Amino acid sequence: MSKICMIGTGYVGLVSGACLADFGNTVWCVDIDEGRIKTLRSGGIPIYEPILKDIVTRNTSAGRLFFTTDLGDAVKNSEVIFIAVGTPPLPDGSSDLSHVFDASRELAGFLNDYKVVVQKSTVPVGTTRQVADVIRKHAPEGADFDMVSNPEFLREGSAIEDFLRPNRVIIGVESERAEEVMKRVYRPLYLLETPVVVTTLEAAELIKYASNAYLATKISFINEIATICELCQANIDDVAKGMGLDGRIGSKFLHAGIGYGGSCLPKDITALIHIAREKGYDPRIIRAAHEVNAGQIEIAFDKLKAEVGSLEGRTIGILGLSFKPNTDDLREAPALKVLQLLLDAKAQVKVFDPVAMDNLRENSGLNVEYCKNPYETAENAHALVLITEWNELRELDLERLKRLMLEPVFIDCRNVYKKDRMVQQGFRYNSFGRGVDPKEPVK
Ligand SMILES: NC(=O)c1ccc[n+]([C@@H]2O[C@H](COP(=O)([O-])OP(=O)(O)OC[C@H]3O[C@@H](n4cnc5c(N)ncnc54)[C@H](O)[C@@H]3O)[C@@H](O)[C@H]2O)c1
Repeated sequence: MSKICMIGTGYVGLVSGACLADFGNTVWCVDIDEGRIKTLRSGGIPIYEPILKDIVTRNTSAGRLFFTTDLGDAVKNSEVIFIAVGTPPLPDGSSDLSHVFDASRELAGFLNDYKVVVQKSTVPVGTTRQVADVIRKHAPEGADFDMVSNPEFLREGSAIEDFLRPNRVIIGVESERAEEVMKRVYRPLYLLETPVVVTTLEAAELIKYASNAYLATKISFINEIATICELCQANIDDVAKGMGLDGRIGSKFLHAGIGYGGSCLPKDITALIHIAREKGYDPRIIRAAHEVNAGQIEIAFDKLKAEVGSLEGRTIGILGLSFKPNTDDLREAPALKVLQLLLDAKAQVKVFDPVAMDNLRENSGLNVEYCKNPYETAENAHALVLITEWNELRELDLERLKRLMLEPVFIDCRNVYKKDRMVQQGFRYNSFGRGVDPKEPVK
């Protein structure tokens, strides 16, 4: 088994570190955020992610998982050093690589014997090679290391399952020695016959961007079809079902709605556009996917205005804040943009989310009312807007909601509810791509 240093204990670093420890490796998770390390050391988990606490507790108790701010000790003790720090977007859409290069410079000084340095953060093509140059420049004379690109594909909300049972592992590598080390790190996945794609550093980096750009395009594609459905008496549920049964297309990521958000798809799309343009190519499909996605927020807002009229002084309840269910992550969450539009229009805003409200309260400074549950959110509201399809928002007591509201307007940005059922209940209901009811009877 391997000794591993994981630099960065965010959504990716913490999950990866805990799961690699679960594989039997010994892992030191390092972060510059002292508060975060203190929380982890005292048994707390700084992010919301199902099952993560169990894995962390199991592996810290077994003496395989440690949390520290001491990068030097962690690097010296380890054979494999993962870089899993953030790569947020810059205003021009490119990736901010400062954390990656800072971490590379810092770790370089502690290289004592052969190490494999693994780039796990999502980085533009060519960055892993640049990181090698930075390390070489700052490492002691004769330092011996190999670089690997090993992008991560976990999804927040199902991150543990995704890491322990991935569809594939991508290893961009140039030396056989480093390849052997990586195969040892991921040995339990080999035993599960997980496909491992060994490739060049550049292809590994691009696989990550291409995958996310493809998923984003699929979402924007079905959203565009939903808009066409509204114009031609078709129902998107029927259309998506009919399309998804084609094995070449598949049913996943064919859910129409307010569009994608989160810490990955939006920034990875803009980064890929930037990467292509720097090389002199205008990536038209990817650019269009990005533009369609931005337009979904306006479509949702227009649907609300069409039902409510002027928003000034009206009370609007927002159900769901996080960018997707089962996470507290608000990065690029569509709800944030909707909140801002509502506040700009001088609406009174009430919000509810099962886990992301503390995050909004502590980090946004937005003037909204925080509610204990969906029903408190509905009280005296002129409209409810469902933005995140948490399970507990899928089966609301519609009769109770309607009784509490001033006006029975329900904008369903994730197509969770059946249109005819909502209309039967007396709601003025709007969703995406469902100008007419589906042919199938309501279940
Ligand atoms: N979040 C996801 O679902 C996801 C999925 C796949 C890939 N990724 C990619 O993984 C990378 C990390 O994403 P994340 O969501 O975990 O980020 P994050 O912001 O949640 O965590 C990054 C962590 O790195 C720490 N850090 C920054 N500089 C450091 C340094 N020099 N030394 C030690 N720690 C440092 C920060 O304090 C923070 O705790 C990004 O490139 C992202 O695109 C994210």
